[in-house]
Formats: sequence, structure tokens, C-alpha cells
Amino acid sequence: MKRVLVTGACGQLGSEISLALADRYGIENVLITDINPPSEYLGKLKFIAMDVLDDQQVNQIIKEHDVKLVYHLAAMLSASGEQNPRIAWKLNMDGLINVLEACKENQVDRVFWPSSIAAFGSHTQLVQTPQYTIMDPETIYGISKLSGELWCQYYYDRFDLDVRSVRFPGLISYKSPPGGGTTDYAVAIFHSAVRGKHYQCFLGEDTRLPMMFMSDAVNAAMALMSAPKESISIRSSYNLAAFSVTPQELTAALQNHFPEFSTVYQTDFRDLIAKTWPRTIDDSVARRDWGWQHEFGLREMVAEMVHNLT
Ligand SMILES: NC(=O)c1ccc[n+]([C@@H]2O[C@H](COP(=O)([O-])OP(=O)(O)OC[C@H]3O[C@@H](n4cnc5c(N)ncnc54)[C@H](O)[C@@H]3O)[C@@H](O)[C@H]2O)c1
Repeated sequence: MKRVLVTGACGQLGSEISLALADRYGIENVLITDINPPSEYLGKLKFIAMDVLDDQQVNQIIKEHDVKLVYHLAAMLSASGEQNPRIAWKLNMDGLINVLEACKENQVDRVFWPSSIAAFGSHTQLVQTPQYTIMDPETIYGISKLSGELWCQYYYDRFDLDVRSVRFPGLISYKSPPGGGTTDYAVAIFHSAVRGKHYQCFLGEDTRLPMMFMSDAVNAAMALMSAPKESISIRSSYNLAAFSVTPQELTAALQNHFPEFSTVYQTDFRDLIAKTWPRTIDDSVARRDWGWQHEFGLREMVAEMVHNLT
């Protein structure tokens, strides 16, 4: 049985991936780590406090627990990163390199590390963004994701470390709150709607962004990690998509459930960030190589969110 370690396990993505990994590999085989303590619903999983910036600690924990699969999720996201660029750079870069190095040293079988649509930029082809295109990110988060993709490629080429990655769009979940990204509105808007409140949106009404429901994101990460090595043709990061939506369209979809609901718009710096990101993504390489398929479109996602939040 594979021993699995998750970093950043208490975050929006980490907490849901950790539960799914426990289902697949058995609770006793999943080690969740973070600098913050786990919330109650992760209570049954084995938790160790681990700072990914402490390279010796990372190396020691991976060695001691004979870890074979690593999901490295600790990071600072786009909006928080713009408030703290040097801290974001340090966490996103040194954290990744510490994990890659420890995995190489301890012969870890496979590593998953998520990149983001933030790795693209304003000179990218923003409609049906291809797998290979101009990438000129403008946020420190996007710069760290693009650099991280190249580090992953480097560790694969140079050391044969089996690192796998996807460029996630904005992730929408009801179990865990988002962690300071530009797409956080797409979760917050649901909480306002179910509480009978109006929502004040920090993106413009027509700002279209690619999004994905959390269970699809979890399935994507686990499917990519299970794919045969020879089917993986991209060692930087795969484009990945489900659906794209504007705040106005999301508001309209919510009005089907809550007719009184409305959104007012007060844009801030996050709208400027969003305008440099793709509107839609061409993820045909992921679909071809390892059979990626999303389950939730906009309508299904909204129904599932509303059902679980009410
Ligand atoms: N959520 C999204 O919409 C989204 C989209 C694209 C990519 N991603 C990527 O997915 C990964 C997880 O994102 P998330 O949304 O779960 O983020 P999050 O902010 O919700 O969680 C990050 C976790 O990392 C932990 N952490 C911070 N510093 C740490 C350190 N020094 N050592 C160990 N842990 C530390 C935090 O305590 C937190 O629990 C990140 O790499 C992110 O860039 C997320």
C-alpha cells in the first residue's frame, strides 16, 4: 500500500483531496501536514505540523514515514500574494524546491503539484488558451506558478522525478473556504445567496473566468497521479478546464434558486488580475493523454452547491 503525504492539507483543496486519498488508500496510509491545525472534519486523519520552508523537516518526515506519493499544495494564492509578494515568492518557490528535493532524495514514486491559470498573462491567447502559448504572468503568484512549472520539468528531465501537474482554474467548493484567490467570489456569492443577502462582487459583471467544481479538481489530481507514466506527455503542467462563467451569469444561475438574489459590483485590483487570465481553456491534451473528463458544468455545480449549503 502506498504511503501518501499532503502538504497544505488544511487549505481549500488540501482538505478535500486528503479525504479522497484516505478513501482510496486507507486512513492509516495518509499523512496530512500543514502549518495550521486541521479543522474538525479532518480529525480522523493523521496530522503532523510541517513547514514546507524547513527543508530538513520536510526531508526527515518523508524519510521517516516512507512516503511514496506526495501532493504538494502549500502555497500563497493570487490576491494574498499581491499583498505580500516576497513572502508569496518564498513560500511558493522555496516550498516547492524543498519538496522536490526531498522527494528526489527519498525516491518518492510520484509528486503532484498544482499550477494555475494565473501562469498565463495578458499577451496569452485568452480565448481557448492553448497548451503551449505566450506566458507572461503579471502577479507574483502567476510568476511563481510559471517558474514552478519549469522546476517540475527540470526535476523530471534531470533527475527522473515523476512530477505531475495541472493548471487549475478557480475552484468552487462548499466544504472548505477559499484561501485568498482572485476567483474567491465564486464561492462567496453562494454564501450570500443562501443567507438571503445580496452580494457585492469585486470582479466586473462581464469578467469571464474558467472555473471547476471541487470534486472534479480532486478527481483530476488523482486521475493524473494514477495514469501510466508513458501516457504523460507534459511535464510542466497540463491545461485543465470544466466551464467558464461571468459574475452576471453566476448571479442569473443563482436566481433560478433564489429569485430575490442580486449582485452589485464594486471592482478592485482583483478585477485587473482577472482580466489578464484566460476566459476559456483548451485542455484537449489532458483529455487525450490521461482521459480527463469533467462531471460538473455550470448548472450541475450550482445545483450541487445550493443543495449542500442550504
Ligand atoms: N483554490 C483555487 O482556486 C486554486 C486554483 C488554482 C491552483 N490552486 C493551487 O492549489 C494549491 C492549494 O490551493 P488552496 O486553494 O487549497 O490554498 P489555501 O490557501 O486554501 O491552502 C494553502 C494551505 O497551505 C498552508 N501553508 C501556508 N504556508 C505553509 C507552510 N510554510 N508550510 C506548510 N503549509 C503552509 C496553509 O495553512 C493552507 O492550509 C496551491 O498550490 C494553489 O496555488 C488553487
